[in-house]
Amino acid sequence: MTHSLRHADATPYASSLIEGLRDFGYSLETSLADIVDNSITAGARRVDILANTTGEHPWIAVVDDGSGMSEQALVDAMRPGSRNPKEDRLADDLGRFGLGLKSASFAQARKLSVYSRSENEGICATWDLDEVAKSNAWQISLQDAFTHPAIQNMNGPSGTAVIWRKLDRLDGGYRNSAADRARTINASLSQAEQHLRLVFHRFMEGARPRLKLFLNGRLLAPIDPFAESNPATQFDQPDDLPLSKGIVGIRCVTLPHHKKMSKVAWDETGGPDGHLKSQGLYIYRADRLIIAGGWLGLTRQTELTKLCRVKIDIPNSMDADWKIDVKKASAQLPPVVRDRLRKVVERFVGTSKRTYRKRGRKLVDEQRDVMWGQIKTDENIIFRPNLEHPVFEEFRDRLNDDQLAKAFNNCIALLGATLPIETLHADLLGTSEAVISDPVALDALRQQIEALVPKLLERNIPEANIPDVLRNDDLIKANWADAEPIILEFLGENK
Ligand SMILES: Nc1ncnc2c1ncn2[C@@H]1O[C@H](COP(=O)(O)OP(=O)(O)OP(=O)(O)O)[C@@H](O)[C@H]1O
Ligand SMILES: [Mg+2]
Repeated sequence: MTHSLRHADATPYASSLIEGLRDFGYSLETSLADIVDNSITAGARRVDILANTTGEHPWIAVVDDGSGMSEQALVDAMRPGSRNPKEDRLADDLGRFGLGLKSASFAQARKLSVYSRSENEGICATWDLDEVAKSNAWQISLQDAFTHPAIQNMNGPSGTAVIWRKLDRLDGGYRNSAADRARTINASLSQAEQHLRLVFHRFMEGARPRLKLFLNGRLLAPIDPFAESNPATQFDQPDDLPLSKGIVGIRCVTLPHHKKMSKVAWDETGGPDGHLKSQGLYIYRADRLIIAGGWLGLTRQTELTKLCRVKIDIPNSMDADWKIDVKKASAQLPPVVRDRLRKVVERFVGTSKRTYRKRGRKLVDEQRDVMWGQIKTDENIIFRPNLEHPVFEEFRDRLNDDQLAKAFNNCIALLGATLPIETLHADLLGTSEAVISDPVALDALRQQIEALVPKLLERNIPEANIPDVLRNDDLIKANWADAEPIILEFLGENK
């Protein structure tokens, strides 16, 4: 028997395969970022994201002033798989698969039009998934005379507009009212806005940024995840790793304590999930952020390390080793990099935990009259109300009764013994900044001051220094505006 090699036609069915392109797992933010990638690669200096969400037929467009495409280039660009991922690319090319334009767009819209102009000639190509479903053909439509509100302000000699219509995935369904649809799309858009400000921050920074990104005419400001312009940010020495295909830049950065940042900057660097979840690795591929936070299994996200971030830079020549995905939203650490990072992160995270602990101890040691003592045993750290605190002492004196004094001590001890550690811990892991101690009433503050001042005088602290010494007390410091007049008044009365 002879074995002859035969072939059969296995052309994919357009109508089914193209629907599959919709489900790479894009969100609106990753889709928009993928389109903006293309604009940056095309040399755009200005990108406008335009959205009409209130009309009966909402649309979203990304309009750039980049190099644009000729008709042939446009037809090629519309082809799924227009480039081979194995092809080498220029160092500043943010693309890789020849898929992003299509997969990112179809994830949000059933109708994708790309209008492009180069050398003042404009042409528009459109994929309409409903047409493909009917014809089952890989066929786009071309239009020379194309008009759309999104391209009204494209005045330059070249540029490209990517227009999404039939936003079936974004608007919550056509059964919604127009107002509900607008609200749903706008909510996704404002989340996407934060993402874009972060992902492209390096392009948007500086007095003459490489890229100006607008959302409906509003210039977006970059969000720098390392708060580099804040003088309190700490940079370690770089730990760069030279490899055959280029250098992997590695640098550990410690964010400033939230008290040293504006609330806006703190919230923005923390992102929608907060600082605990945003600590970790920040990986840039050709200056574009692809991973923002998380330790990729190198260590755990803890409250003690939540200000730790590692800045990692990789060139696009290493894509295959890093298993960059189509969305540019995930990557895996190549083994050599993982080994180096494991050491770097271990050291970094270890130092950070030690400074935190030291800081904690120091604060307590500095003051003798703390209300809560911190008792360390080999295994445990116990928080215990300090029964010797002047406020307690003074009150027992006033009781002038041993039985009552004992009962009072028991009350305070019970308070200490029932400190809700578990709840505190859980809440701190959530949003630690939101966990605060109870604001003190003026009357209680007065009692604290009136107990402390005589103690200090007993210790021969000159009267003139007493306000300064009292200011070391956390409670008094935090309520200084209220405390100062009480102190001065009390000192005056005791003259
Ligand atoms: N805004 C644009 N301006 C000029 N050319 C563009 C623009 N958007 C896309 N192109 C062209 O279309 C091609 C296809 O884009 P697409 O996003 O599908 O793939 P890619 O960017 O090459 O790779 P990836 O799948 O990784 O994004 C690009 O390679 C580029 O040549
Ligand atoms: Mg692309």
